[in-house]
Amino acid sequence: MRSVLSGKKVLLGVTGGIAAYKTTYIVRLLVKAGASVQVIMTPAARDFVTPLTLSTLSKNPVLSHFTNQEDENDTWNNHVELGLWADLMIIAPATANTMSKMESGAIDNLLLAIYCSATCPVYYAPAMDLDMYKHPSTQHNFDQLTSYGNLMIPAGDGELASGLSGKGRMAEPEEIIQFIEKDISSKLPLRGKKCLITAGPTYEAIDPVRFIGNHSSGKMGAAIAMELANQGAQVHLVMGPSAVLVHHPLVHRVDIRSAQEMYDEVHRVIQTVDVAIFSAAVADYRPLHPVGQKIKKKSDTLSIELVKNPDILASVGAMDKKPFLVGFALETENEMQHAFAKAEKKQTDLLVLNSMRDKGAGFGVDTNKITIIDKDKNISRFDTKPKTEVAKDIAYEIIKRIL
Ligand code: CTP
Repeated sequence: MRSVLSGKKVLLGVTGGIAAYKTTYIVRLLVKAGASVQVIMTPAARDFVTPLTLSTLSKNPVLSHFTNQEDENDTWNNHVELGLWADLMIIAPATANTMSKMESGAIDNLLLAIYCSATCPVYYAPAMDLDMYKHPSTQHNFDQLTSYGNLMIPAGDGELASGLSGKGRMAEPEEIIQFIEKDISSKLPLRGKKCLITAGPTYEAIDPVRFIGNHSSGKMGAAIAMELANQGAQVHLVMGPSAVLVHHPLVHRVDIRSAQEMYDEVHRVIQTVDVAIFSAAVADYRPLHPVGQKIKKKSDTLSIELVKNPDILASVGAMDKKPFLVGFALETENEMQHAFAKAEKKQTDLLVLNSMRDKGAGFGVDTNKITIIDKDKNISRFDTKPKTEVAKDIAYEIIKRIL
């Protein structure tokens, strides 16, 4: 199952307490979850676990000092850049000493300089002995650090390294990761929202072996489904025939073939969703009388009578109570003119235009170049980008209008 930590840039600050040996497991779990990990150790932490172990597991050199003295150029570890690089910072174990410096703003090592420069969420997992934990100064520091916006991963009860038993044990690595995953998930912008996406082509049967279709791969719709799910939405993906694989616990995929099947599935769920995105390349016409048996080549010419398919997007646009509606337009000429007309006719909140004339846009390719037109006729133009990045732009445009 995909973790919300996948793709995240994580600073792991390790301070000098016996629980430092457990950070090897934290690094393993972060890497397994798909995060990039940069470990920062205080000089005291190096007595408890070796930098070599943590750099091997994190696949990155461990940093401890403001300069890399062993490097012949004596390079500087830029704490500001590191603080800005990270999506989140974890300080585990957080000793009473480090917590007191985090509280007062004292900076006498690289880890504290990075902590003070970081603009990302900071989680810390206290670890100390029973009486240190209970001490009023430590309790005061917990309150202060919380008031600064830091997130405490509570210590557990149990046997301590000193032999005493009580509160102060650092949370187990699995608990630390679960705490962070839960916190990130609870703050995702689309958490609690339901989204419907149509994607791919439709196939309209001529006979049992032939169909009318188009070159849509379904890649753009699949990328949008993944992005919305990454932002916390529950996604109902109605997909025409496509080889694209979509694996995400929040994406429910329903495979259909024809425009009529897509129409039926969309209308089955439309009243339950907050956002509906129509990226499918729906066949405009279907054979009026699909033949029950394979058509034999008896005559020199063959005419197939076609009838118009229902316009799924327009049917939703015409509803009184409807979700936030996003349509697509693929054009080959007079793009803006057609796009404005489509947005109005189908009553979309956003219309995503791609032009077949743009290099790197359209069917089959892994990139796209889009222009977005909103309800008030505002136009946003985007560069050619991988479809996964285009999906992020589309998600951002939706999020800023619905939240
Ligand atoms: N669409 C739909 N049902 C259809 C046809 C299109 O839901 N039967 C949706 C598409 O998913 C897309 C938008 O309508 O979001 C525009 O599709 P497009 O094929 O560009 O436009 P058409 O309305 O089919 O117009 P034309 O083919 O004449 O350009």
